[in-house]
Amino acid sequence: MVKSLIPLRIAGVGYSLPETVITNDDLTKLYDTSDEWIYTRTGIKERRVVSGEQNAIDLGFEASKNALAKAKIDPSEIDLIIAASSAPPDLYPAIACHIQARLGIKTQIPAFDITAACTGLIYGLSIAKAYIASGMYKNILIVATDNNSRLVNWEDRSTSILFGDGAGAMVVTASDDGVDDVIAIDIKSDGHIGDLIELSFDGKNCPLVEQYEPKPTGIRMNGKGVYAFVAKILPHYVENLITSAGMKAEEIDYLIPHQANIRIIQAVQERLGYSDDKVVTNIKYYGNTSAASIPLALAESVEKGKVKLGSTAVLCGFGAGMTWGGAIVRLREGIC
Ligand code: UT7
Repeated sequence: MVKSLIPLRIAGVGYSLPETVITNDDLTKLYDTSDEWIYTRTGIKERRVVSGEQNAIDLGFEASKNALAKAKIDPSEIDLIIAASSAPPDLYPAIACHIQARLGIKTQIPAFDITAACTGLIYGLSIAKAYIASGMYKNILIVATDNNSRLVNWEDRSTSILFGDGAGAMVVTASDDGVDDVIAIDIKSDGHIGDLIELSFDGKNCPLVEQYEPKPTGIRMNGKGVYAFVAKILPHYVENLITSAGMKAEEIDYLIPHQANIRIIQAVQERLGYSDDKVVTNIKYYGNTSAASIPLALAESVEKGKVKLGSTAVLCGFGAGMTWGGAIVRLREGIC
């Protein structure tokens, strides 16, 4: 964990969703499935998907504008953009560079993407915390965005039912009152089990050499394996994060988890002994929006009044890599 030199303030959060809704019933037109099967196993009823030219960069741009407006920080004041995406529409330019241009930021600030799948926001926040703590940058935009609907294999009913599209953003800045809004943060990975969730981007070898067998396209997931791994480690991990910060679960007001499966969320909830009003879930309406999932759940729940400000929350996520992570954060008045 980084020992803060300069504390960090979460200044604003925002989100963006595509308009098109695909319900579980709609999916029965694609393959043999049912609303009952999907809902009881995952908690998902519908998801949003991009349509036509719209993609994760558009969603990320909108979420960024919203977060900047809440933070009352002009784009020209941003010193660094970190974009987290499971799979950017372009490998280059980075989503962060696209967003720098769309926001009209003329100064030559750094902007880069990170790939930590559904843990992307926590990874981004961890990086931002280190930069702010060191005094290297003051105002940082973290944007997490995914257009999963373009990446799933729509013939694979066990995977494509899960995912949706969306974006969330967070503006963080050097705190001027000595209070750090990141009370604790931790990120982890285990590449040995990376084959649980894969999305390959194969090119072709030089035509003058031996060719190789490209991997299949689209997101490939061992759902049972992911479920078993996460259900085993996550509840304990989140509990440990809280105790290692010298806190008790009851001292934290909200659990804002990655929205991957309602049963995994409930396992963490049970471990922490939280009532339903302390747990943010929007999986029913948006499915798993990967990197966007946590900031989307955070920003929407604050906007809709489910999460009251002047509170604390534990964020936790997991995803391809496998990666996982958690953060205990202060949610001050005015962030949304
Ligand atoms: O951020 C990414 C993190 N990923 C996750 O969190 C995924 C975690 N895993 C899961 O949520 C669950 O494993 C799934 C919801 C993906 C799948 O549930 P499951 O209980 O593990 O189902 P399964 O894949 O073992 O399939 C059970 C049965 C199979 O039929 P048979 O072989 O028992 O006859 C599947 O063919 O259910 C069948 N099935 C379906 N049936 C109706 C699989 N998908 C569907 C479907 N509709 N969409």
